[in-house]
Amino acid sequence: MIKRARRLRSSIAIRNMVRETHLSVNDLIQPVFVVEGEKIRREIPSLTNMYHLSIDMLDDEINEIVNLGIQSIIVFGIPDKKDEIASSAYDDNGIVQKAIRRIKQIAPNLCVISDVCMCQYTSHGHCGIVTSDGIIDNDESLQYLAKISLSHAKAGADIVAPSDMMDGRVMAMRNLLDQNGYYNVSIMAYSAKYASSLYGPFRDAANSAPEFGDRKTYQMDPHNRLEALKEMEFDFDEGADYLMVKPALFYLDVLREGRNQFELPMVAYMVSGEYMMIKNAVRDGVLSENVIYESVMSIKRAGADIIITYFAKELAKKWL
Ligand code: PBG
Ligand code: ZN
Repeated sequence: MIKRARRLRSSIAIRNMVRETHLSVNDLIQPVFVVEGEKIRREIPSLTNMYHLSIDMLDDEINEIVNLGIQSIIVFGIPDKKDEIASSAYDDNGIVQKAIRRIKQIAPNLCVISDVCMCQYTSHGHCGIVTSDGIIDNDESLQYLAKISLSHAKAGADIVAPSDMMDGRVMAMRNLLDQNGYYNVSIMAYSAKYASSLYGPFRDAANSAPEFGDRKTYQMDPHNRLEALKEMEFDFDEGADYLMVKPALFYLDVLREGRNQFELPMVAYMVSGEYMMIKNAVRDGVLSENVIYESVMSIKRAGADIIITYFAKELAKKWL
């Protein structure tokens, strides 16, 4: 036998030397959920080990993240008030804006990403403006999404991340940011965001489930692959700085194709349902804890440069 694949597996040193994928804390983005109120640090029932934090309780959480070597967080806000036009989303004193200002005081070098969407802030729970006949009005929504991103940028966000899936939102946001001098604030576009069944725990955590209908007229059909490349191309052309595929594990093929095709950092969002499936399997003793590392590492191997995951802190503590 001339060819023996097992030679390259014969010792730890060799295995380490020929290893092709390396997961690092630099690759990870930790989600943070902020709520109005004071002295609140409440575990989120649908998301094990994740907490609703009021602004005054952010210090410990942010310091822990920084001390673990994690470079980046994504902030989700849960507002007190909702209305038809998501006015609390672009209020300069909104929950996310206040959180960003506080986080920048605690950790000026931490990269702060803000999720830009309307669903947590609208009474109907949709990601855009709803017309009187119950249609999600794409073009009307754009100005709101742009206003939200500008307000986040003013508060100090380094990156704004639109998760709404309206057509043209990257360009609308880029234009308004530039007109106001925020040309260095970048856009991480949720480009291929699927209408997945894996968002349930997040919607409970963020109180953002749609009150009627579903998100299928704006989020992508899980059956489609070419359409994902089209979405990424649109966002690329509109000036996105990062392209995202979401969810991650069921969509690794899409991630790999995006990585091969576009000269931009590829982001994968390992979503709440993926997290809880694995979390519960480990809790129940069905799988050993190492499945956590393997799952996130696989997303990197498939083509992600950056991974948003509720496991970021745990990975940094136990594996990285
Ligand atoms: C809001 C938003 C959602 C997620 C991130 N931003 C939910 C949705 O689209 O309904 C899901 C994240 C997760 O499940 O972890 N547009
Ligand atoms: Zn939304």
